[in-house]
Amino acid sequence: MVMASFTALTEGEVYVPGLPSEYVAERYGIAPDQIAKLGSAENPHGASPKARAAVEAALGRLDLYPDWTARRLREAIAQKYGFDADNVVCGSGETEVISMVIRAFARPDAPVMMHDPCFPLYRIYSNCEGRCPVFTPTGKDFDPLVDQYIENLRKLKPRIAFITNPHNPSGRLIDEAGVRRICDAASEGTLMVLDEAYIHYSETEFGMQLLRDYPNLIVLRTFSKAFGLAGLRVGFGISANPRLILPLRNIKPTWNMGQLQIAGGVAAINDDEHVRRAVKTVVEMRAYVAERLATVPGFRMVPGSRANFFLTEILAPELDSTTVFEELLKRGVIVKNGADIPGLGSRYLRVDVNLKRHMDRFVSALADIRSA
Ligand SMILES: Cc1ncc(COP(=O)(O)O)c(C=O)c1O
Repeated sequence: MVMASFTALTEGEVYVPGLPSEYVAERYGIAPDQIAKLGSAENPHGASPKARAAVEAALGRLDLYPDWTARRLREAIAQKYGFDADNVVCGSGETEVISMVIRAFARPDAPVMMHDPCFPLYRIYSNCEGRCPVFTPTGKDFDPLVDQYIENLRKLKPRIAFITNPHNPSGRLIDEAGVRRICDAASEGTLMVLDEAYIHYSETEFGMQLLRDYPNLIVLRTFSKAFGLAGLRVGFGISANPRLILPLRNIKPTWNMGQLQIAGGVAAINDDEHVRRAVKTVVEMRAYVAERLATVPGFRMVPGSRANFFLTEILAPELDSTTVFEELLKRGVIVKNGADIPGLGSRYLRVDVNLKRHMDRFVSALADIRSA
C-alpha cells in the first residue's frame, strides 16, 4: 500500500495546560484530595451552585438541538451589561471566540499584535490560521509599557491588537486611563480586543464601560474563572458595534453551544454571590501568600498581580523552573512551569491563588526544596 505523505499546516507550538490532579496522584502515589492544584487558575470554590442546578435541570433536553445562536445566553449576558443580544457572540470557552476573532478579522499574513509574553493561544491561533503574530514588549516585572504599546500600534499597524487585562501570566493590570489611551491611539483599521478573562479578581470591571466609546473594541470574557465553569466551556465576546459581532456568528461552528452550556451560562451570569465569594478569597489569599513567600529565601513574588495567579521568580542560581516544577509535583503541588509559557523563560513559575491550605502547602514545599 502506498502511504500518502501529508504535512500539516499547523505543526509547531502546542499549548501546555496545567496538569490534572489525577496524573500527579497516579505518578507520585499521592491521594488526589491531598494535591494543591495551582496551575489552571480555576475557582477555589468550584462551580456556581446556580449553574450546577440549571445544568442538572437541562439534562432532560439532551435529545434536542440547542438554538444555534445560543440566544437565551446572549440575551442574559446582554441584559447584564446593558446591551442587546445582537451585541454578543458565545463560544465554547473564550478561547473559541479568540480563534473566531482572528479568522474573521485578520486576512492571511496580517499582523496580530500581543504582549511578549502573553496568553499563548493568541500566537498559536494566529500561526495556525496563517496570520502573523507581532509583539510588543513588557518591562521590568512585566510592566505593560503602555507608551511602547501605543508606539507599536502606530508602527506595526496590526489588524487586531490584544490586551489581556489583567495580563496573563503576570496578573498586572492596565488602569482604565491606560486602556483608553491605547483605544484612542488605535486607528480605524485596528480591531482592539480586550481579554478580561480575569477581570473580576481586579475588582475593577471597567471594560464594559468602554464599549460605547470605541466602535472598534470587543471585550472577551470567560465563565471558566470567577463563575467556576471551566469544565462546561462557555465564553463570549461583546461589542457596542453589532457589525463586529455578526461576522463572528457567521463563521462559528453552527451548534458550538450545547443545551448544558447555555443553561449553565444563563444561571451563572447572575450568580453574583458566587463571584463575590471567589473574589474575596482570592484577594485575601493573594495578600496572605505574598507575606508568606517573602519569608522563603531564593524565591520572590513578582509584585502587582490583580488576577487569581501570580508569578514566582526563582532567585536561587542552582535552581530553574523545570527543576522546581518537578520537585513541587513530588510534594503534591501543581503549578505552571514558566518554561512552558513562550517568552517567559526558565526563572518563573505561575501559581494560582487558592484556599489557604493550598497556599501554605505551596510555600512549605518551596522552603523544603530550597533546604534539600
Ligand atoms: C487570558 C486568557 N483568556 C482566555 C482564557 C480561556 O478561557 P476559556 O476557558 O473560556 O477558554 C484563558 C485561560 O487560561 C486566559 O488565560
